Amino acid sequence: MSPALRCVVLIVAAGSGTRLGAGIPKALVPLPGGATILEHCLQGVDRSHQGSHRGRLVGVVVVVPPDPAAAERLEQVCASAAERTGLPLRTVPGGRERADSVRAGLSACAALGDEPGAAAPVTHVLVHDAARPFVPPAVFQRVEDALEAGAAAVVPAVPVTDTVKTVAPWADTVKAPGLAGTGSEPAPFQVVDTPVRAALRAVQTPQGFELAALLRAHESARRAGEDAAALTDDSMLMEAAGHTVAVVNGDAESFKITSALDLALAAAVLQERSATSPQTA
Ligand code: CTP
Ligand code: MG
Repeated sequence: MSPALRCVVLIVAAGSGTRLGAGIPKALVPLPGGATILEHCLQGVDRSHQGSHRGRLVGVVVVVPPDPAAAERLEQVCASAAERTGLPLRTVPGGRERADSVRAGLSACAALGDEPGAAAPVTHVLVHDAARPFVPPAVFQRVEDALEAGAAAVVPAVPVTDTVKTVAPWADTVKAPGLAGTGSEPAPFQVVDTPVRAALRAVQTPQGFELAALLRAHESARRAGEDAAALTDDSMLMEAAGHTVAVVNGDAESFKITSALDLALAAAVLQERSATSPQTA
């Protein structure tokens, strides 16, 4: 059992939301009721902080877009959230890819523990996508529990419902069957493998880590010149560094808002929440 957790939640909100296509950064997109995606995400962090393990979360860092206008609007959202939660909250500008934004945020997480008045250094970080606004407090708790039990890296995950294939560019010199003569052929692919579905999991956030270990893992990836665009989550860097990554149960409500169809699901979640508990929707 490791010493008491002192976790910072690192929320990455610096993406542009290209696939959603709202014309504004995704974190600023309002959901039904008017609150933005980032506001819902911060409310989720607050609910988790108010829960039975109050005291584990010691601060929040939000990584905002480098564009000054968007950053200013997100900083306003963060300032009101900080007033509500009472947790120290800092914002830092993000980078081109998600991994660049995480790296920018990690230094700010470490700095939070060194500020005057901070009781002790920050030991752990929960890296969380702003684009997942409805993570239940129980998921935060499961991730924190696994860290407290000594895991250096933890991911919440759910079983995969589709059969997943590994594909590669079509190997033949002749055209792929069915595409010949269509005039507008997409780049043809062929299936090269079908992993056993029962062994697959879709991983979500928040992902929990020993802060120093994740900082080292990001730093080695940067030094090795790894393609930041290919680093789609943080636990893969911990795997590469030789750490065991623990898996805890995620939740269907932790889904990521990626495309317009996900906004319909978000509306349904909010409607369901307001029907069951009007004050928390
Ligand atoms: N993110 C970030 N910095 C980036 C890219 C992404 O902080 N340079 C954040 C996003 O704000 C989001 C999370 O990482 O909360 C997951 O990324 P994704 O869902 O891909 O969001 P976007 O990159 O904004 O969307 P898109 O890829 O469609 O542009
Ligand atoms: Mg993206």
